[in-house]
Order: sequence, then C-alpha cells, then structure tokens
Amino acid sequence: MKILVIGSGAREHAICWKLKQSPALTELYCAPGNAGTARLGENLSIGSEEMGKLLDFAVSRQVDLTVVGPEAPLVGGLVDQFESAGLLVMGPSRAAAQLEGSKTFAKDFMRRHGIPTADYQTYTDPVAVDADLGRGRYRFPLVVKADGLAAGKGVFICPDLTSAQAAVNAVMRERQFGASGDRLVIEEFLQGEEASFMVFSDGRNYIPMVPSQDHKAVFDGDQGPNTGGMGAYSIDAILSPPTRDRVLREVIEPTIRGMAEEGTPFRGILYAGLMLTDSGAKVLEFNVRFGDPETQVVLPRLETDLLTILAGIARGDLSKIDIQWNSDAVVCVVVASGGYPGPYQKGKEIKGLEMAGEIRDTVVFHAGTAKRDGKTVSAGGRVLGITARAKSLDEAILRAYEGVNKVYFEGMYYRRDIAAKGLKKLTIDDL
Ligand code: AMP
Ligand code: GLY
Repeated sequence: MKILVIGSGAREHAICWKLKQSPALTELYCAPGNAGTARLGENLSIGSEEMGKLLDFAVSRQVDLTVVGPEAPLVGGLVDQFESAGLLVMGPSRAAAQLEGSKTFAKDFMRRHGIPTADYQTYTDPVAVDADLGRGRYRFPLVVKADGLAAGKGVFICPDLTSAQAAVNAVMRERQFGASGDRLVIEEFLQGEEASFMVFSDGRNYIPMVPSQDHKAVFDGDQGPNTGGMGAYSIDAILSPPTRDRVLREVIEPTIRGMAEEGTPFRGILYAGLMLTDSGAKVLEFNVRFGDPETQVVLPRLETDLLTILAGIARGDLSKIDIQWNSDAVVCVVVASGGYPGPYQKGKEIKGLEMAGEIRDTVVFHAGTAKRDGKTVSAGGRVLGITARAKSLDEAILRAYEGVNKVYFEGMYYRRDIAAKGLKKLTIDDL
C-alpha cells in the first residue's frame, strides 16, 4: 500500500517507523516530514494544513491510505474532504474532531453522557466572568481555558483572583489565542497525577492501547511553563487494572457510544488525558489523534502490524483485528533547543545521531530537524525524542539517557527526571 503520513514531529517519525515494518507497505510519503522521516520514505514539500495540495497529491499518486498526525488538519475537515474524493483516510471527521477542537463541545458532551470530568462553566462574555469571579462564586485554585485549539497554551492554572482575571483578559480581551477566545471555560482544579490513555476506534468498536505518561513542564520536578511535552514513558502500572477497567467503562465506552448516537461516530485515535484523583480518574481533555510524545513510547510496545490497524479504522472495521502488546518499558527523553518553550535558536548542527541509534533497542525519533548541506540541523523547539525499550523501567531510563549523552548540539536542553514518577509507582506496587 502507498501511505501518506501528514505532519512533521517525532510523533509522525514514530508512526512512519512503525509503518515501515509492515509487509504491506510499498511506498511511504510524509508531508512535510523531517530529517528522520526522510530516511524512511519521501518527504513532500507540502505543509500539514495545505489541504488542496495534499488532496491533489493523494489523488494523483493514488495513495491508498492517508494518516493524519496533528489536530489542526482534522479540526479543519481534511478527513471529510479526502473521503468526498473517495480516498481512504485515518482520522475523525471535522464534526467528531470537535472533541479536541472545542473545550466547550467536549465538556458539554461529557456532561450529557455522564463522563467524569472537572465541574465547569462556559462563558461567551468577559463581563459575566468578571461578575462571577467578583462575587466569589469560585474557589481557588481554578483553571481558565480558551475554547479552541491553542497549541497547548490556552490553559491557565490560577491560584487567586488576580491571576484568574489576568487569564480572562488574555483570552477574551487581548485575544491572545484569536478566535479561541470567543468562548472560555472555567473549571474546577483537579489534584492528582496525569495519565494518557489512547484507543483505536472504528466508530463502533475500540481497542485500547497501553497507557503512558507525559511530562509537560519544561523543568525537572514538573516546574516551569508547559511545553508540548518533554518526555514520556509507558509501563502498564501507570493504570492499575481496576482503574483501567473503570476508565474503559466510564470514559471510553460512553464516548464512543455517545459520538455514534449523536450522529458523529468517532473513527480514529481517541486520546483521553486523565487526572487520577482520589475519587477516580477524570478527563482533563480529549485529543482526537496520537499524542506527542506518548506515541513514541506506545508504538514500540505494539506487536501487531500498525498499517492493518490504521486501515481497519479508516475502513470502519476493527472487529477482526487481534492486537498484541509487549510488556516492556519504553522511555522517551525529548532533547530541546535551549530557551524552549520561549525563544530559541535553530540551525545548530546535531552530532552523534548514528552513535545514539546504535544503542540496543534505542530509536532516535526526530522532531524539529532538517537537512542542510548534508548535515542534520535543529529546526524547532523540540528537536529529538530519544526512545529506549527494555525489560524494566530503570533499564529503559538508563538506555534512553545513554542515547541522550551521545548526541550534541549547541544549547541542547533536556529534563533529567523523565519516568522517575514511574519508578515510584513500581516501588509502591512492589511493596
Ligand atoms: P488541557 O489542554 O485541557 O489538557 O490542559 C493542559 C494541562 O493543564 C493538563 O495537562 C493539566 O496539566 C492542566 N490542567 C488542565 N485542566 C486541569 C484541571 N481541571 N485541574 C488541574 N490541572 C488541569
Ligand atoms: N502530549 C499531549 C498531547 O499530545 O497533546
């Protein structure tokens, strides 16, 4: 099969890496891709939001299956357009992508279907928010969220009234997130540890993936501003068996069933961002695509052909596919440009990639990289995701950091405590 993967991050490199192992793959294209995907297939100079060009390419080259990585083309209706042109495409329709595209849609959907999530109130008028804040309707901390896509930046944890008012101003008056500031959600602050849980869904049936945990904050100990994700790991212990069963029963099943009942069946990758609170797991957010960096640690545990699964989703039938996972631990440490998520420099030559890739069971997934004069250079905030697999979590951590120590570029930065929380889980479980 000829496959087109849309996107340019380490997530897309990981998807291409796994697809490349499929005996059914004949040609692999990535639009626009990065220096890592260029080694696996052909990069196209078409951006992930250039819908017309992507469609022309898929039609003219008779692409058999298109896999969409990032959320923006999904929320923009790429799947609907490809399907109208008779193409097979893996991802939710524009209507189903509202689960990620609109916080108010997602919250109202959860309320309609009794899915556990933080209490919330939606606003369209900043004066009404100010009035409710002013008359002490809320307890602090609380969470202020811009309604639409904001590249992970439209969420403010507010410890007091002043910070909440500032967040409302940033979102609704200064319009820092554009049209995402038309509406705003105020949400109860949830305490606990986060977990990411993804499932493959064909609109009716779903198959769970193994759980994972992201590290969003830029500094060790979860300090500093949020980023796109500084690393992740996957071990089964992230969700205990009873918690996993409860999440399937209380979150995943009602979501898949509810979307189908409402006439917008969810076909694609459903990602539930969970907070594991004392009163059970609650949904922080839905994403309608593979997580990044979660995919980098989940796919190395998949023992089944990814192409068969993704084609099954796109065709609307996963029922005959038996999916197997290994019980290994996988750790991905993100190597970023110094300064990220603030301003940073690009174009720095990256050395040691080959050496890092030679470490056993280690893959260097590229994120923001490009080729220049035959050299691989940094081209984004998150540059590499060094990913190692091992029988135990401590071995996987050691191996991933061994890989990190082999690569170098000027100003590189990474967290030193990726997966440390996982070790604590194992210690508790083993007692
Ligand atoms: P979201 O994009 O909605 O997942 O929010 C981004 C991040 O903000 C989450 O990964 C959490 O770390 C944090 N967050 C969001 N909502 C809440 C909440 N209700 N309580 C505590 N933290 C939250
Ligand atoms: N890792 C969080 C996300 O993919 O949105």
